[in-house]
Amino acid sequence: MSKSPEFPRFVQSGSGAAAPDSRYAEPHQPVEGVESIVLVASGKGGVGKSTLTVNLACTLSQMGKRIGILDADLYGPSITRMMGADTQLSIDANGRAIPVRNHGVWTASVGNQLPPEAALVWKGPLVAQTLIQMFRHLAWPELDMLLVDLPPGTGDVPLTILEQIPITGTLLVTTPQKLSLVDAARGVALFHDLDIPVFGLVENMDRYICPCCGESQDLFPDGAAAALAERKHIPFLGGIPFDPEGQCHIDNGHPLVIAKSEGEVARAFKELAAKVDAAVAREIACRARDGDARRRQEHVSFWENLLHD
Ligand SMILES: Nc1ncnc2c1ncn2[C@@H]1O[C@H](COP(=O)(O)OP(=O)(O)O)[C@@H](O)[C@H]1O
Ligand SMILES: [Mg+2]
Repeated sequence: MSKSPEFPRFVQSGSGAAAPDSRYAEPHQPVEGVESIVLVASGKGGVGKSTLTVNLACTLSQMGKRIGILDADLYGPSITRMMGADTQLSIDANGRAIPVRNHGVWTASVGNQLPPEAALVWKGPLVAQTLIQMFRHLAWPELDMLLVDLPPGTGDVPLTILEQIPITGTLLVTTPQKLSLVDAARGVALFHDLDIPVFGLVENMDRYICPCCGESQDLFPDGAAAALAERKHIPFLGGIPFDPEGQCHIDNGHPLVIAKSEGEVARAFKELAAKVDAAVAREIACRARDGDARRRQEHVSFWENLLHD
């Protein structure tokens, strides 16, 4: 007889914690204690979303920000392994699971609550329920930024999140190959259609770092990712090199920016983190201005005066 699949639990049943059901969540209400929420998305799998999420998170944390990662890739969670945080989550006095802290970053994933080889079989309502639990019913500490590692594509997971959770903005990751770029363009279209700010496009594995001499070499020097960003009117946030030596660090829970903190990858992430931090600050300032009638009017008048001068 086939064994029914296991499901992760983030709230202890009968604990009195808020009901873990999407029907009871207030869509687009702020997530308690979390100032900004940034999605890390791509059209294709394997382009480096999770790698980018953990390294960006660690770099932002090194800059003094309070950072969390929510692993929304319910079908292929990799954050626990990449962050060296693959322990079962402990439960607080209110019956809520507490994210794990490692390398200065708080993380939570279905990978924490299920054995590594458990089948991950999800139907639509369960996807929504689990995601809502992870955002709203986990005991997240106060965070400046929660990075959300999405599965590839534009399926149930991103749509549920966009429908329920107030998103500050999104980063799109691509590799330089055409197939990845075509799908990245679909991602841009989705976020534009839904009015979600796109902070920019990152080109992962744009160059190769030679393990012998440390020199880097462009892999696809035609600048197609930068051209796509320009065509879609979104910022191009630069490239992250492919570091063949980095592979064993990544697979063993040591993000590259920590394992090789003086390397070229770490330098690239410092530049990227500064741009992401600035984009989030700009977006928060814009929303504060738009939510204040007097400041909104001042802003409109500024542009009107400028255009009429
Ligand atoms: N810049 C990089 N340097 C070295 N290895 C990388 C880099 N980016 C990604 N990888 C490796 O490529 C594989 C896929 O990356 P991953 O982040 O899991 O992609 P995704 O989350 O988009 O599916 C992983 O084994 C990861 O370690
Ligand atoms: Mg991934």
